[in-house]
Amino acid sequence: MDNKIGTIGVLTSGGDAPGMNAAVRAVVRTGIASGLRVIGIKRGYQGLIEGAIQEMDAFSVTDITHRGGTILQSARCPEFREEEGLQKAVRFCNKVGIEGIVVIGGDGSFRGASDLSRRGINCVGVPGTIDNDIACTDYTIGYDTALNTARDMVDRLLDTTASHNRCTVVEVMGRGCGDIALNVGIACGATAILVPEVPVDFETDVIEKIQDAKKMGKTHFIIIVAEGVGGAENLARAIEERTGIATRATILGHVQRGGTPTVRDRVMATCMGNYAVELLVSGKSDRVVAYKDSKIVDFDIQEALLHRKVFATELYEMAQQISL
Ligand code: ADP
Ligand code: F6P
Repeated sequence: MDNKIGTIGVLTSGGDAPGMNAAVRAVVRTGIASGLRVIGIKRGYQGLIEGAIQEMDAFSVTDITHRGGTILQSARCPEFREEEGLQKAVRFCNKVGIEGIVVIGGDGSFRGASDLSRRGINCVGVPGTIDNDIACTDYTIGYDTALNTARDMVDRLLDTTASHNRCTVVEVMGRGCGDIALNVGIACGATAILVPEVPVDFETDVIEKIQDAKKMGKTHFIIIVAEGVGGAENLARAIEERTGIATRATILGHVQRGGTPTVRDRVMATCMGNYAVELLVSGKSDRVVAYKDSKIVDFDIQEALLHRKVFATELYEMAQQISL
C-alpha cells in the first residue's frame, strides 16, 4: 500500500445526522488497520481552531454505531470561513502533525475541506446530513433514519387526525430540499405534499385536493410541508378558514435529527468512512465520497459543488396522481 501519510484527523461538521458515529468508527478502524495514527477533532472546524482533539484507538469507537448524534460533537464555525480562522486551523494541524482529515458533513463543510486541502492538509469529505441535499451523491448519511423518524411521527399524527376528522399540516425538515417531505408524504398517504422545488398554488394544490377528497368520502387529511416552504401555522389557519375542517399544525423539527440510526445509515456510513481513508492513504486530497448508481465513488470537491441536485419530479407527479 502507498502509505504517504502517517496521521489523519476525523471531524463531524454542520447539522449532526444519525449514522455519523458509524462513519467515525469506520475512519478510525480503517486508519489504524492501515498503520495510521488517528485523531478525533471535536466540534467540527471549531476544534481545529481551539485545539480540541482526542487520540483515537480501536476501542475508542466501540459500541457507538447504534448511537444517534456524533461522539465528536458538531458545530457551525463562522470563524473558520475567515482567512485568519483557516490559518489558525492549518497551523494547529501542522503543530500536531495532522496531514489529512476526513470531514463528515454537508456542502458547507466540504467548502471548508477544500480550503484546507488547498493549504496542504489533505481532506476528503463524507456526505452527512439528514436533508439528502448534496447534489453529487444519491445518498447522505442520516437521511434514512430521518425519513423513518418522520414517518413514525406522521403515523402517530394520522391516528389522532382520523379520530377527530381533522386536517393536520406537518412540517418536516429540508431547508432547500423536498426529499424528506416527498418520501414521507408518499409513505404516509398525504393529501398534499409541498416542496421547495415545485411552485405551489394554494387553491388548486391544497384546497381543491382536500375538497375533492372530502366529496369522495375522506374524513381526515395530512398535508406535508417541507421546511423550505415553511409557514405550517399559517397554512393550517388558511385551510381551516377555507374548508371549515378543524386543522392543526405540527412542526417536527430537530426530533428528526436524533435517534438510533437505521441499518441503511450504519452500513452506508461505514462504507463511506472506509472509502474516505483509502483515498487519503492512496495520496488523494480535495475529494468527496459519493454514492452514485449503487456504487461508492469520489469526486473532486470543487467539481462536486457545481453539480445541481435533480428533484425526483416523476415520483412527485406520481404522488400527485394517487393522493386523496
Ligand atoms: P453543512 O456542512 O451541513 O452544509 P454548514 O453550511 O453550516 O453545514 O457548514 C458547516 C461549517 O463548514 C461552517 O460552520 C463553516 O465552518 C464551514 N463552512 C461553511 N461554508 C463554508 C465556506 N463557504 N467556506 C469555508 N468554510 C465553510
Ligand atoms: O441540514 C440539516 C438541517 O437539519 C436542516 O434540515 C435544517 O434546516 C437545519 O439543519 C437546522 O439547523 P440548526 O441545527 O442550525 O437548527
